[in-house]
Amino acid sequence: MEGKVILMLLLFVSIISTFRADYVRPQPRETLHFPWSFKSSSQPLQVHVSLAGDEHMRVTWITNDHSAPSYVEYGTSPGEYTSVSQGESTSYSYMLYKSGKIHHTVIGPLKAGTVYYYRCGGEGSEFQLKTPPSQLPITFSVAGDLGQSGWTKSTLEHIDLCKYDVHLLPGDLSYADYLQHRWDTFGELVEPLASARPWMVTEGNHEKEDIFLFKAPFDSYNARWKMPFEESGSSSNLYYSFEVAGTHVIMLGSYTDYDESSYQYAWLKADLAKVDRERTPWLVVLFHVPWYNSNKAHQGEGAGMMAVIEPLLYAAGADIVIAGHVHAYERSKRVNAGKSDPCGAVHITIGDGGNREGLAHKYNSQPEWSIFREASFGHGELNIVNSTHAFWSWHRNDDDEPVKSDQAWITSLVGSGCVAEKNHQPKNFR
Ligand SMILES: [Fe+2]
Repeated sequence: MEGKVILMLLLFVSIISTFRADYVRPQPRETLHFPWSFKSSSQPLQVHVSLAGDEHMRVTWITNDHSAPSYVEYGTSPGEYTSVSQGESTSYSYMLYKSGKIHHTVIGPLKAGTVYYYRCGGEGSEFQLKTPPSQLPITFSVAGDLGQSGWTKSTLEHIDLCKYDVHLLPGDLSYADYLQHRWDTFGELVEPLASARPWMVTEGNHEKEDIFLFKAPFDSYNARWKMPFEESGSSSNLYYSFEVAGTHVIMLGSYTDYDESSYQYAWLKADLAKVDRERTPWLVVLFHVPWYNSNKAHQGEGAGMMAVIEPLLYAAGADIVIAGHVHAYERSKRVNAGKSDPCGAVHITIGDGGNREGLAHKYNSQPEWSIFREASFGHGELNIVNSTHAFWSWHRNDDDEPVKSDQAWITSLVGSGCVAEKNHQPKNFR
């Protein structure tokens, strides 16, 4: 009985925190139903992989058996495992819920652009993954605010068709919203994709799940979706960076401290100082709450972070900034300080992966910096062709078909001379 009351309270808090009265989100699709299927307690579940430093990847899976081992066997031919890596494990409790054993095992060194076959803990099916290329070109798929609805399924099917190398997710993954078994069903839902290509994620408000005096924020997210923060010199899983094929990608946290005295700010400054534009001509940044948003939903929520962090990104010559949170799509011109600037970043809001809350349809009048906006579910593809040119496209889930609705060539700031120009400014003007 007491458990039920707590659950109702948590549900109420969740609904209050995600509902806004000033816009309507029609036609959400139903939450998917996951039939129960028998798997032995040591069988690997919810397998996903992520990049983990130079030439390495992290394999994550869950077993119900807490004595199951954390090693991964792998090789370049099916069934022939020439290498084995030992990993670590964790688990967590959330009120009455107890997670399975969550295994994190780093494998490598791995060859670039190569298919590896692997098995987790000596049990269950063989999986296969493809490592990203070592040099450009590279294709990223992008979708935020995924959830696990009928629209999510449609989006995942379209992402699967696009032959991407790495998936980027700017926050709001499972929409578990305190109900921890939803993290497990989300893990199963994305496994076919996330076990085959690295999925690089950052957190949104739906990952927070904190309870005053009981639960710190992001506990479940951090336990399940470990990202390469240690590998990138960060002390928190909530912000980190990685490099892949000529691209330096920075994942920031919209819901962790970002002011000038914060750890995140200090880490970001140090990370930006390390970026070598000869090695990685493209600089891409992701976080959850958009700074350039002309939708009525979540209007102005990113202003505080923008005031502190945008000057750093501008000085460093960030090319593309990707956010989620608003359940619609929008692409800006190159912008800085709230207006067009040829040496600023292109901002993309893509919080339209398919969550159960539906779309954000109401807009303010279109600002001069906003090129394209539309409230539809879908996904993005960023094909970075070479050091100067990238092709961006957004694909709307129109009647379950992926329809290319917005597309643009983006020229890098290195190619346009902006980065060199900024580097020649006296230090106190940067
Ligand atoms: Fe969000």
